[in-house]
Amino acid sequence: MSGAKEKAASHRVSTSDDVEVSTYLEIAKEMQGVQAAPKPEEIPHGAREAVAIIDFGSQYSHLIARRVRECNVYCELFHYDTPLEKIMSIQPRGFILSGGPASVYEKNAPLTPVGIYESHLPVLGICYGMQLITHQLGGTVAPGARHEYGQAVLHLNDDKSPLFLDLEESLTVWMSHGDEIMEMPTGFRSSASTENSPNAVISDGLKIFGLQFHPEVVHTPQGKQIIRNFLYNVCGCRGTWTPGNFIQESIAAIKGQVGNGKVICALSGGVDSAVAAKLVHAAIGDQLTCIFVNNGLLRREEPERALETFRKNLQMNVVYVDASDLFLDNLKGVIDPEQKRKNIGREFIKVFESEATKLGKIDFLTQGTLYPDVIESATPETKAAAKIKTHHNVGGLPSRMALTLIEPLRYLFKDEVRNVGLELGLPEDMVWRQPFPGPGLAIRIIGEVTRERLDILRGADWIVMNEIKKAKLYRQMWQTFAILTDLRSVGVMGDGRTYGYLVALRAVTSQDAMTADWARLPYNLLATISNRIVNEVAGVNRVVYDITSKPPSTIEWE
Ligand code: XMP
Repeated sequence: MSGAKEKAASHRVSTSDDVEVSTYLEIAKEMQGVQAAPKPEEIPHGAREAVAIIDFGSQYSHLIARRVRECNVYCELFHYDTPLEKIMSIQPRGFILSGGPASVYEKNAPLTPVGIYESHLPVLGICYGMQLITHQLGGTVAPGARHEYGQAVLHLNDDKSPLFLDLEESLTVWMSHGDEIMEMPTGFRSSASTENSPNAVISDGLKIFGLQFHPEVVHTPQGKQIIRNFLYNVCGCRGTWTPGNFIQESIAAIKGQVGNGKVICALSGGVDSAVAAKLVHAAIGDQLTCIFVNNGLLRREEPERALETFRKNLQMNVVYVDASDLFLDNLKGVIDPEQKRKNIGREFIKVFESEATKLGKIDFLTQGTLYPDVIESATPETKAAAKIKTHHNVGGLPSRMALTLIEPLRYLFKDEVRNVGLELGLPEDMVWRQPFPGPGLAIRIIGEVTRERLDILRGADWIVMNEIKKAKLYRQMWQTFAILTDLRSVGVMGDGRTYGYLVALRAVTSQDAMTADWARLPYNLLATISNRIVNEVAGVNRVVYDITSKPPSTIEWE
């Protein structure tokens, strides 16, 4: 063994169990005989292009997935403990190793799943991911003399890395790291540097790349192009992940799964269940029956509009149940937010089951579960996180119903669901509808939910929605709504004293509801909304605007 080889061999590519797998030099040698990534024209038409993102716990991992999807390439996130066999089931054309909070030299630091490097597929390591490549393939990582947080200027050298094709020689990038590469693995070279990081971009000149900065965040303005270059120039993807292709694939899969079976779906009026139902309907037509339960907690005119869209415009079978009385009876005297959610969830299951039973034998249940829900419930870190609210109001249908789940949107982000909805021909106002919580207006009424208080809130909410739409701000906002508080205050109307309710306004911008910022609505718009509410909604004499972000607040008040 040569000196270099010995050195590399002494740095084992190890797993959590510390099993020796291979050395980089051996891998690199094998790679000589490996074909380069296929050229776009060599990829069979319709073959799904996918990339696997290995998640080391970075708060930005889901952003990597979003950026990859924005480049029209399918991807999935896998926890770093996932066996390679499972990851390979999506037939990835490359791997992206995310950032993460650990340091690679710590005991029990998370490592790549066994076999990633041996797969000979392209690898892009980001921050921790790059340090891991270095550590596992024979280099050295240690705490840096100077930490680098925030924006930095990246200077490319004349390495001509395919990741930076067509980009300027100096780029603004976003850094967030304390460790740095002291020694690169044998065969690796640096393609770019910043003031504090001489090895800000590394590569083996073949298929393995590392970025010390975060290309997935908006603070790296050319970041998406860098990711795109990896996907297209290194992995050989062409960008076949489009709403049209997704619909075709899903329809075929649903047909195959359902056969002659019968499917039910609970419509909420929201975009997720609407798109899921439409997709299943496109696949199996009248074998699908939707159930729309009016829980008495919906916005003004909501049930009528949803029914009109599904029954008249889309010609779908919809069973409509007005169960308002049952739900409101169940909420009598309840003021605790979690208790409200529990009562509503329990009642929903009862009503849904009773309606479904009337339909005879049913085999499948369709749900509009989205990828963020899947990521959230699959990540151990999140599982351990403190429970703030129970968001999943339908905890599950009774097992005696024995239904198989169909979740066609399970791997989509919200913006992708909207694009699929548009492609399927759902009306724009349904596709662009702001999210609305399952427990509806019940969690926007502080204190007891009564018919009288629901009417007050519906009146205020209607005005907020109208004015926001009139100001053409509806789509820019994640959510805009009114809250009816249990606080009363003194006011004066005409010459008389009033003692009325306080209504709060909430308008937030957000990407995914995990964090949100309060919207800087124009003063004139706030003035119009406030004016209209106190004039048009009996019982309200004061309006306030909520100027807290999430965190520390949440979007909903309950
Ligand atoms: P928070 O209030 O936790 O809300 O910041 C984040 C997002 O979730 C929605 N939300 C719910 N959705 N059932 C739902 O289906 C719930 O119980 C629930 N609580 C909050 C909220 O509207 C926001 O979009």
